[in-house]
Amino acid sequence: MSKVSPLTTAARLRKYTRLRPTLAVVLGSGFNHVLAAVEAETSIPYSKLPGFPPVAVHGHAGQLVFAQVDETPVALLCGRAHFYEGHPMEVVTFAVRALAEFGVKSLLLTNAAGGMNPKFRAGDFMRLTDHLNLMGTNPLRGAPVPGRERFVDLSQVYDPALGRMLETAARRAGTRVQRGVYVGLSGPSYETPAEIRAFRKLGGDAVGMSTVPEVLAANHMGVRVAGVSCITHQAAGPGGKPLTHEEVAETAHRVKDLFTRLLEDFLPTVARAGANKA
Ligand code: HPA
Repeated sequence: MSKVSPLTTAARLRKYTRLRPTLAVVLGSGFNHVLAAVEAETSIPYSKLPGFPPVAVHGHAGQLVFAQVDETPVALLCGRAHFYEGHPMEVVTFAVRALAEFGVKSLLLTNAAGGMNPKFRAGDFMRLTDHLNLMGTNPLRGAPVPGRERFVDLSQVYDPALGRMLETAARRAGTRVQRGVYVGLSGPSYETPAEIRAFRKLGGDAVGMSTVPEVLAANHMGVRVAGVSCITHQAAGPGGKPLTHEEVAETAHRVKDLFTRLLEDFLPTVARAGANKA
């Protein structure tokens, strides 16, 4: 299989849109409703973008949307490739690398996650302050990328300034944001109660099956990262109650308006702050 360079895809993107956003958002499953609130300028199916992952199409998933949010140009990745689907890490992280080459400097990653911290309730948002990569691999493994660090520093993997803007936006949207450590797992099975107890002891607050690979690729590319989870339920079910994907989707749906308001505040704030890495 011939490998597509993210540079090639970035050049293609410049032909699709006149917008030059420095800000991008990855909308995880259950977050595509945000699109209804934005003024889409261009929507490009992933299938037209070399190297982009084949994403199962539900609703708007599988599209890269260029839009203006309160006059701020933004790139919205609707849907992501997950490691549990069997994609190599290179595919899981490709869109982030292509957007970085396109000129994106700040990235907000969203996801649905199971809460482990007993203070968390279903429907809460959590600002990722750090993560534990328990996916069993690292997307930066492999041949070194010319011009990029071989050994990437992760002492501040989530940008504190972007994190503070996220909290301010949440407050203004009328919701509170918890803070916590996201445990990234390969999935696709949910966790056993013993695993949840262990991850909690290791310092985790929430568990999920995405985000960590994109965060690592973004750090590798010099892109600032913020991450927010929607806590969809208590992980490993209270009292051993089985967990279903429907339950996870239902909670994300319940908080959709709040989440849209949060983004509508956050995106222009980031743009105004010019929160870009030099
Ligand atoms: N575990 C892993 N991934 C998830 C969960 C969970 O409990 N909830 C949403 N995504």
